[in-house]
Amino acid sequence: MCGIIGILGQTPVAPLLVDALKRLEYRGYDSAGIATLEDGSIERLRAEGKLRNLEAKLAASRKLGRTGIGHTRWATHGAPTERNAHPHATERLAVVHNGIIENFRELRTELEAKGRRFVSDTDTEVVAHLVTVAIEEGLSPHAAVAAVLPRLTGAFALAFVFDGEEDLLIGARRGSPLAIGFGTSEMFLGSDAIALGPFTDEITYLDDGDHVVLTRAGAAIFDESGAAVTRAIVRSQGATYVADKGNHRHFMVKEIHEQPEVVGHTLAHYLDLARGEARAPEGIDFAKVDRLSITACGTAYYAGSVARYWFEQIARLPVDIDIASEFRYREQPLAPGGLSMVISQSGETADTLASLRYARAEGQKIAAVVNVRESTIAREADVVLPLLAGPEIGVASTKAFTAQLAVLAATAIAAGKARGVLSSDAEAHLVRAFSEVPRLMHEALKLDAQIEALARELSKVRHCLYLGRGTSYPIALEGALKLKEISYIHAEGYAAGELKHGPIALIDEEMPVVVIAPHDRLFEKTVSNMQEVAARGGRIILITDKAGRDAAAIDAIETLVLPEMPSSVTPLVYAIPVQLLAYHTAVIMGTDVDQPRNLAKSVTVE
Ligand code: G6P
Repeated sequence: MCGIIGILGQTPVAPLLVDALKRLEYRGYDSAGIATLEDGSIERLRAEGKLRNLEAKLAASRKLGRTGIGHTRWATHGAPTERNAHPHATERLAVVHNGIIENFRELRTELEAKGRRFVSDTDTEVVAHLVTVAIEEGLSPHAAVAAVLPRLTGAFALAFVFDGEEDLLIGARRGSPLAIGFGTSEMFLGSDAIALGPFTDEITYLDDGDHVVLTRAGAAIFDESGAAVTRAIVRSQGATYVADKGNHRHFMVKEIHEQPEVVGHTLAHYLDLARGEARAPEGIDFAKVDRLSITACGTAYYAGSVARYWFEQIARLPVDIDIASEFRYREQPLAPGGLSMVISQSGETADTLASLRYARAEGQKIAAVVNVRESTIAREADVVLPLLAGPEIGVASTKAFTAQLAVLAATAIAAGKARGVLSSDAEAHLVRAFSEVPRLMHEALKLDAQIEALARELSKVRHCLYLGRGTSYPIALEGALKLKEISYIHAEGYAAGELKHGPIALIDEEMPVVVIAPHDRLFEKTVSNMQEVAARGGRIILITDKAGRDAAAIDAIETLVLPEMPSSVTPLVYAIPVQLLAYHTAVIMGTDVDQPRNLAKSVTVE
């Protein structure tokens, strides 16, 4: 899951390539590079580490060109060094690649036997050599690429420029996304519409297996069989987007503060707040659904884990939920005609996409909860339930998580109504409760200064536990994930009742335990688990409401008090203090909050 850009321009392209890579950095950022054509010959500029290193090199270079490709990398094969950075090149061409060429070892052995010399540890370099060999055997660049594609196994998107070919850019995709952008006597290739945004809003998404030959005059697209095909041109929404932190220090904290607005906007789309009703999702008849299967990765999986409680409690609909990387290989038999729901901010996560395809092959209807409407998952689903979150740039997901929760809660209410298990009164009651969420989130954000002070304590520890019951359990998991991914403190989330079956052995005076416990019907049970922690010297950070604080009678090192609210809505509001706690801890520890080490926003490899 790297980011790809390609430009056939009218002005110097190198700065444009680097600018586009900035918008793709969410896909990976451990090294970057560009290749441009200077008087017909390929010039490369590559740098290890963040994009600013490449920018610094570009400032010192006069190689600008009008034709070029660029890449920002999330390493899969080979360490993130300059030697392994893309583009990879031979005497004939340069190529950038997103994805994995699974059979690269065999191909490399074959090419080495032919005398080809490899200079990187990447899987990508075999593609450069295979196409070069084909060109040296007499094929045109297009024929050479077309001949090589069937030899590659795995998921990939590729973009090539060729020595001596100022008016040629070739792209190909299988599994990983790739879009064409149409300009005026200029053409573009990019991993997504955001990359192409400043250049054009006229986009064509390549279908799986397609390859494309671009010249400044236009695009010729070919499908997997090699037949010329046409693909629709769409107007992209990504085009208007400009990444901007506003007055905030990081995208993550900006996105945390956007949540009342984003969630309000999303809820208003799915709920008729004036009439107290949930709008039935078009294309799903929940009256005919008797089992729901949910699949997702990372934070989206935790949103699905909260939704399981909602679908089961509100709609009395049994739910199976799986991590996509497990689901896709579990070979679970699915009753034909069932409903499968995938949840993905990016809509490009490889495991989630593979799960979608498995479910489809098993005869399921597919509903996708996605933020990026033009993503592969959105395009392959039967029903799209969009988040109205806007682009999320911070690698650690925040506003997309609560927007996912908003969509899922509204859908669970609609399902309850359609299944005849939710009276109009109960529906109106729930809708009213959710309509209060933006205000409650706004209140939760006021804990910011208290959480920042608490984060000074948390930043001194090496381990941390998060506990919760019911829907607070997935929030505990999400809280632990947030803390570990951006502060690098080891954190684990547990179901509070499970503590006694192992993790309690970890409790001592050094171990902070964040307890997420709104004063709901499970509160007393959670308090008992807290007592068990306190009795062993564990340091409790309690996140609760006023009634919970009064009833807890526990000597917590800190109690964060949220407003009281119906238990159905607590996951959306309690997400905020756990996000802020992770954020402030990471800032104090001086990590790269928006681009934590080793991670990427969109994981398009298995
Ligand atoms: C990556 C991101 C996470 C995200 C997960 C699933 O690991 O760093 O923040 O939750 O992928 O991504 P998706 O786009 O499918 O929601």
